[in-house]
Amino acid sequence: MLYMKKIELHLHLEGAAPPAFIRSIAAEKRADLTGVFDAQGHYAYDGFEGFLRCYEAATSVLQSPQDYARLLTEVLERCAEEGVIYAELFVSPEFCGGGDLVAWREYLAAMDEVALKARAEGIDSRAIITCVRHFGVERAKKSAICAAETAGGWITGFGMGGAESVGKATDYGWSFDCAREAGLGLTCHAGEWGGPESICEALELGCTRIGHGVHAIQDPALIRDLVARDITLEVCPGSNVALGVYPDWPSHPIARLADAGVRVTVSTDDPPFFHTTMRHEYDRLAETFGWGDTEFRQINRWAADAAFCDEVTRDRLR
Ligand code: ADE
Ligand code: ZN
Repeated sequence: MLYMKKIELHLHLEGAAPPAFIRSIAAEKRADLTGVFDAQGHYAYDGFEGFLRCYEAATSVLQSPQDYARLLTEVLERCAEEGVIYAELFVSPEFCGGGDLVAWREYLAAMDEVALKARAEGIDSRAIITCVRHFGVERAKKSAICAAETAGGWITGFGMGGAESVGKATDYGWSFDCAREAGLGLTCHAGEWGGPESICEALELGCTRIGHGVHAIQDPALIRDLVARDITLEVCPGSNVALGVYPDWPSHPIARLADAGVRVTVSTDDPPFFHTTMRHEYDRLAETFGWGDTEFRQINRWAADAAFCDEVTRDRLR
């Protein structure tokens, strides 16, 4: 099916690495990735914890700015093939140099060059510097410092992914304050595994966007609040179904949230892990909920409104 150009706000850079790409880097480094792939060569994992372990094992072969430059080139090419004209990528200094600012600047310089070249070729992108919740508060602070010190240009946001069951989002308040003071947009994974209270904690951090946020559907008062405050949800339905947050597409709440007036957007999260692409997400939404041009135009307008970019870019995206 042919839809308009797409905006993707929630895409983890390492999570977008095709298995063949990781295998080829691993072969160059003679790295052992036993258990990371199944017999068909797909990522192999069981459940969310297994997914996080598989993700981190695959990511462990990416060890230099050059590796990340190659990865970003490949990922942006794939975005363009999917009709995506603007993508925001979660990038973590914890994976790029262990949170060290000097190392991070080198990784960033390599990725910046790729992003600039891709922009000239029609695929615009920004980076959301991301801390990993289960790596803890102290490591998150290092990511926030890297984000604040390199804010501007390609780096326009700060966020948090990882295991939502670990602590409270508000435990990471120092990091989010640091990023906000540096002028970065804020988003946090919440309401993917946690309930409405987890989303409220992320909102307390000053986030204008929530990663996933689908469990807001359980709380009408929270839904009213999200609508009143123009909070945008970065919804990744294929990810939710693949990880078992919902058993199937018909039970996914994205259409109900949209009908309630919540600003929902659509992204792939970690596409090869979930056997999805942006086209696949759109096709399933069309098939499951009867969405067509009107709905897809609306979610892309909401995505443009919520994008962590300058007004000129935003107007172009609308
Ligand atoms: N990191 C990559 N994908 C994630 C997800 N779906 N939830 C939390 N952290 C993640
Ligand atoms: Zn995510």
